[in-house]
Amino acid sequence: MTSSIPLYISQIRNYLHRNPHKSLPRHVSIIMDGNGRWAKRIGKERLYGHREGMNSIRSVVSAAAKLKIPYLTLFAFSTENWQRPRGEVTALFNLLKYFCRKELTNFIKKNIRVIFIGRTDELPQMVRYYLRRTLQATRHCNGITLVIAINYGGQQEIVDAVKKLLKDKAIVENPDLLEEKLLSRYFYAPELPPVDLMIRTSGEYRLSNFLTYQSVYAELHFTPLLWPEFKEKEFLLAVQEYLTRSRRFGALNDYVDR
Ligand code: FPP
Repeated sequence: MTSSIPLYISQIRNYLHRNPHKSLPRHVSIIMDGNGRWAKRIGKERLYGHREGMNSIRSVVSAAAKLKIPYLTLFAFSTENWQRPRGEVTALFNLLKYFCRKELTNFIKKNIRVIFIGRTDELPQMVRYYLRRTLQATRHCNGITLVIAINYGGQQEIVDAVKKLLKDKAIVENPDLLEEKLLSRYFYAPELPPVDLMIRTSGEYRLSNFLTYQSVYAELHFTPLLWPEFKEKEFLLAVQEYLTRSRRFGALNDYVDR
């Protein structure tokens, strides 16, 4: 399986060479769904599925780094996930802490900057500590940016942005200044470009409050594979499929440069 990876990468590079008007997605986002079902299918606890899901993250981050996709955003914990049993919530946070600790040297070695989006101030103190540590230790990296969405909701991000915006006297006094790009300046990570490709695993066809504002023209890739089954090869295939899409952004011509 691993030996086929260079083949997929060279196929993508060749395709881009032959189709110079096409380009790789600048921002890929992933709704990593199906850990629990995967674990159940093999008679294991849900946590086992989340652990294997972490290996999928490693694999996909590696693929994105090889392709030099500037931004990869992963939905690790939604504002709605607090409704899960307390034990599972704690286990997910423990995995996140473990992941940040274990992967830090790898991120630095691969020049991957890691940032977090969401209501991170509501997270337990120890989780916040690991997020801060990862953020600080990778802030000098200028390869790809891995964005981990944690305690994140797309609607909540818009609400939080509006709250910040209402503190800006210049806009409050002159609301006509407000336009689409300006609002995004108040988001958790204003630098995030629009999502070009959104992937969701597990055969569900929903966006689940993920990057709502940023995904208005995202190409959607749904796969029946459960997240622990989605690895480097599947990511590269999703990118290949994305390259065949015709993006018009509401215009009439075949391709519009943004
Ligand atoms: C959905 O599976 C997945 C999540 C709720 C979060 C994703 C978490 C991981 C991949 C674990 C590691 C994360 C990090 C950042 C280290 P589900 O539990 O909803 O699956 P189900 O729909 O089959 O029950």
